[in-house]
Amino acid sequence: MSGAQHGLTTTAMALLEPGDVVAVDALTYPGFKLAAEASRLELAPIPAAGNGPDLDALAALCKRRRVRAVYAMPTLHNPLGWVMSARRRRELVTIARQHGLILIEDAAYAFLAEGAPPPLASLAPEITVYVSSLSKSVATGLRVGFVRAPREWVPRLERAIRATTWNTPATMTAIACGWMEDGTVARLEEDKRRDATMRQNLAAETLGRLKRISHPASYFVWIPLEQEVRADAIAMALMRERVSVSTALPFSTSTHVPHAIRLAIGSVDLATLKRSLETVARVVADQTY
Ligand SMILES: Cc1ncc(COP(=O)(O)O)c(C=O)c1O
Repeated sequence: MSGAQHGLTTTAMALLEPGDVVAVDALTYPGFKLAAEASRLELAPIPAAGNGPDLDALAALCKRRRVRAVYAMPTLHNPLGWVMSARRRRELVTIARQHGLILIEDAAYAFLAEGAPPPLASLAPEITVYVSSLSKSVATGLRVGFVRAPREWVPRLERAIRATTWNTPATMTAIACGWMEDGTVARLEEDKRRDATMRQNLAAETLGRLKRISHPASYFVWIPLEQEVRADAIAMALMRERVSVSTALPFSTSTHVPHAIRLAIGSVDLATLKRSLETVARVVADQTY
């Protein structure tokens, strides 16, 4: 695949029909919203409950509607950073089997969460499409991703790959496979885990008492804002100070969009990160009564 995004798009194209209902987190990865829109899917938001989706809400939805698939990030959710427990994974699989759902497991950031419980793909290989890539561990520009799916679904996925890119670039794939085999990818993953942890620690120190939701080794921080604070006002005020953050809007799949901002803490040097985090802390404090 040309990255995990291509994996998600081809999965939607190959395995789902226009109008199919796909359960997604109320806050989810915006790229899946795009893939779903392109395939004319209906997204049904599931609220969060602690470290994962509210599975009672999912079960209730499946009784009410004919749901075809669930899109989930059980290991290092973007944007909330959660890692679902083994018990919750088993419950999710039970619901999926009961209602004949396809599980689309996005593991783009999973390598950052060491010691996470087994992926859904190993608990329920017969219904799970596992999607990941080397974008986060090696380089986004590599555009090398992969999908693991039940054997009988592979021909349909291959047709979707042919329809979109004919094939993936063989040179890049060969280079990436070489890096996986000679231990380069494992070493880079280790480096990124250390780097992300250091950046999270810096965020914790610099943001002080601001409420934060994040994984201790991830490259993003979710900051829920007080009732009286508008996220778009904060984002605009930060933009004026040359700090770019996202609001919850691109991540939201429900009509209720929480007032929150998402900080990406991986892409700038440490001095710029520290300065930017200080700016965030100051601007949010200024706008909170
Ligand atoms: C959760 C998640 N899935 C998939 C992707 C897409 O990754 P890729 O660059 O491999 O297409 C991203 C990129 O931000 C992501 O955050």
